Amino acid sequence: MTTLRIRRPDDWHLHLRDGAHMAAVLPHTARRFARALVMPNLKPPMTTTAALGEYRARILAALPPGLAFQPMMTLYLTDRTSPAEIERASASGYIVGAKLYPAGATTNSDSGVTSIEAVWPALEAMSEAGLVLQVHGEVTDAAVDVFDREAEFVDRILARVVERIPGLRVVFEHVTTARAVEFVRTARPGVAATITPQHLLLNRNAIFEGGIRPHHYCLPVLKRERDRLALVAAATSDDPRYFLGTDSAPHARHTKETSCGCAGIYSAHAGIELYAEAFEAAGRLDRLEAFASERGADFYRVPRNTDTITLERVPWRVPDRYPYAGDELVPMRAGDEIGWRLSGE
Ligand code: NCD
Ligand code: ZN
Repeated sequence: MTTLRIRRPDDWHLHLRDGAHMAAVLPHTARRFARALVMPNLKPPMTTTAALGEYRARILAALPPGLAFQPMMTLYLTDRTSPAEIERASASGYIVGAKLYPAGATTNSDSGVTSIEAVWPALEAMSEAGLVLQVHGEVTDAAVDVFDREAEFVDRILARVVERIPGLRVVFEHVTTARAVEFVRTARPGVAATITPQHLLLNRNAIFEGGIRPHHYCLPVLKRERDRLALVAAATSDDPRYFLGTDSAPHARHTKETSCGCAGIYSAHAGIELYAEAFEAAGRLDRLEAFASERGADFYRVPRNTDTITLERVPWRVPDRYPYAGDELVPMRAGDEIGWRLSGE
C-alpha cells in the first residue's frame, strides 16, 4: 500500500454555515485540517467583530471531542464597514481578514460591496492593521458573459486595488482561469490565491455531462480545460503564492436539485483526498504538502502545524448523501470512488 504522510493541512476558504447545519459538516473538516478560514456569508452576514466572536464560539462548541480544530474568521465587508470596525477586528486576535463580495456575485452576497470606491477607507485601515483582504473576484455586470466575469474583475477592479494600496495583502479566492493565475504570478509581493479541488479536477463539461448536473454548479463556475490545466500547473509549481482553499459550500439537496439551484460544491468529506488525486494525476504528489500545509500558513503569518496526517492509496466509495440537519447533502464524487483515503477514516 502506498502511503503519504504530510504535515497537517489548513483550509483557507471554507463555508461552515451555522447551527445544526454547521454541526453536521464541521467534523469532516476538523478531522483533516488544523485550521480553516471560515467564510462570513451567512444570513444575516457577519459584518461585525462581535457577531464573528459569537459565531466562532458556536463553532468551537460544536466541535466533536478530541479534535483540536481552530476556526479563523474574516469580516464581511460592506459599503459601510468603518475603519473603527477594522481596528476592532484586528484587535480581536481571531479575525485575520475581511472578505470582499461584490454585491450579488454569489450566495448571500446581497449586502456586499456595490462599488470599490466605497471601501477604500476600510482597505486602507486593513493595510495598516495587517488584515488580509480575501476577494471573490467576479464582476456582477449582467452584460458580461458568466465565463468572463473573473477575467473582467482582474482588469476592472483587482489590479486597481493591488496598485492603490501597496501594503495590503490580498488573497484572490478560488481562482478559476489562466488569466487569474497569470495575474497572481506576476503581481507585487503580498498577493496570493486559493484553488479549490473542483477547479483542479473538473472543467465545465462536467456541468453538462449527459444532462444538467446541479452538483457541479459552483461560483465561480467551472471553466475550460485550458484554464484547469493552468490551475494544476500553478498549484503543483514551486510558487508559494498558490495554496489550498476548498470552498466547500454545503447546500441542502433540494435547494440544488431544483429549477433555480444554489451554487456550491460540498467537498469537506474528502477535503485533502481530492487534492491528492489532482496532484497525483499531475505527477507532483511531492508538492502536495507545500500547497496544503505550508504556503497558506506562511502567507497568513501563522506557524505551520507540527502534527501530521497520513493518506493511503486505497480507493473508497463516497456515499450518495450525508445527513444535513434533517436534510441531505450530496457530496462531490457522490456514489463514485476517490483514489485516496485518510488513514483512520
Ligand atoms: C459559496 C456558498 O455557497 O456560500 N458558493 C460557491 O459556489 N462557491 C459562495 C462562494 O464562495 O462564492
Ligand atoms: Zn466560497
